[in-house]
Amino acid sequence: MLSEKIQKALNEQLNAELYSAYLYLSMRAWFESKNLKGFANWMNIQTQEETMHALKFFSFITERGGRVKLEQIKGPETEWKSPLAIFEAGYKHEQYVTSRINDLVNIAIEEKDHATNSFLQWFVNEQVEEEANSDGVVQQLKLVESTPGGMFMLDKELGRRVFTPPVQTKE
Ligand code: FEO
Repeated sequence: MLSEKIQKALNEQLNAELYSAYLYLSMRAWFESKNLKGFANWMNIQTQEETMHALKFFSFITERGGRVKLEQIKGPETEWKSPLAIFEAGYKHEQYVTSRINDLVNIAIEEKDHATNSFLQWFVNEQVEEEANSDGVVQQLKLVESTPGGMFMLDKELGRRVFTPPVQTKE
């Protein structure tokens, strides 16, 4: 059984993951409008990853006998000045998510909820990858942003990203 405090915190993170999916979908829309299909694909995969994250919280809350309560998802930004600005915003967002996950772990420890702490460790590790992924593209963009040929090549490369659901995901 989940404590009220943990249930509330997990539901808030479920909402935050749905917001992340919404944000990356908005970023995808920006790239689609610029006809940068590879970048748009990268954002589409990211949207699927965030949806999967949200569903992991949904399943965990339910399995622990808790109650999922969906809240309003705030509207994401819709305009950015460049591909680099988008990926810098994505990297900053992932750093924010990491801090949220760390705060959640602290709450689980305070509440002596070992099952929640164990569940959250997957996200602790996932955030290392999430930050590295967006920062990796930021670094590539800094190298090629002013060279049209380089942007073309990077768009092609990001177009190859595919969604791979983790083995332990039940959704
Ligand atoms: Fe669900 Fe990008 O962290």
